[in-house]
Order: sequence, then structure tokens, then C-alpha cells
Amino acid sequence: APEWFDIGAPADFDDGEVAPVVADGIEIAVFRIGEDLFALRDKCTHGRTKLSDGFIEDDCIECPLHQGKFAIRTGEPMSEPVTKAVKVFPVRVVDGRVQVSTA
Ligand code: FES
Repeated sequence: APEWFDIGAPADFDDGEVAPVVADGIEIAVFRIGEDLFALRDKCTHGRTKLSDGFIEDDCIECPLHQGKFAIRTGEPMSEPVTKAVKVFPVRVVDGRVQVSTA
């Protein structure tokens, strides 16, 4: 069974924003799009950059270093120079707490 890690309250994550968290020793970028939360590994697959330092546009996160884009919902690469998907972690809300699984 996956292990779940508490990363805060839903209100800690603002719509259309990204917040960096650490769960299980892993840096994770947490996004809210409307009511939905998404958790991506907080590292560009093209270089050593934190995606949480990037810019959100059209449900994508743009890497601050070379402007590669990833789809926030799927982690899929959406524009050059990124070609490799970034890992997406499961997120859930239980008893008013946001939890992420690093499995
Ligand atoms: Fe992210 Fe190059 S390090 S696009």
C-alpha cells in the first residue's frame, strides 16, 4: 500500500499557483487548478532547476531556465527543450489535510 505524507491544508495552496514542499525527503511542486491539486517532482527533466520557480500558463509550468513546458496535470513535456516527462505523485485530501504519496 502507498504511504501518504501530510503536506498541509487545502487552503495552503492557492488557485493558479505553485508551492514547493518536501515529503519523504523529496522536493515536490504542488499546484492547484481550481479544486484540483497536482504534485510534480520539483526538478526539471532538462536541468537542475526547480519547477516551483517557474511560471504557470495554460495549465502548464514553464521552466525558468530554458522555458521548457510541462503539463501540470500529467507531467508530460509540452515544448522544447524538454522531452522527458516529469514524475507526477498522487495527491488526496483526507480529513481536511492534503497528502501526497511518493510511491
Ligand atoms: Fe528546464 Fe532546461 S533546465 S528547460
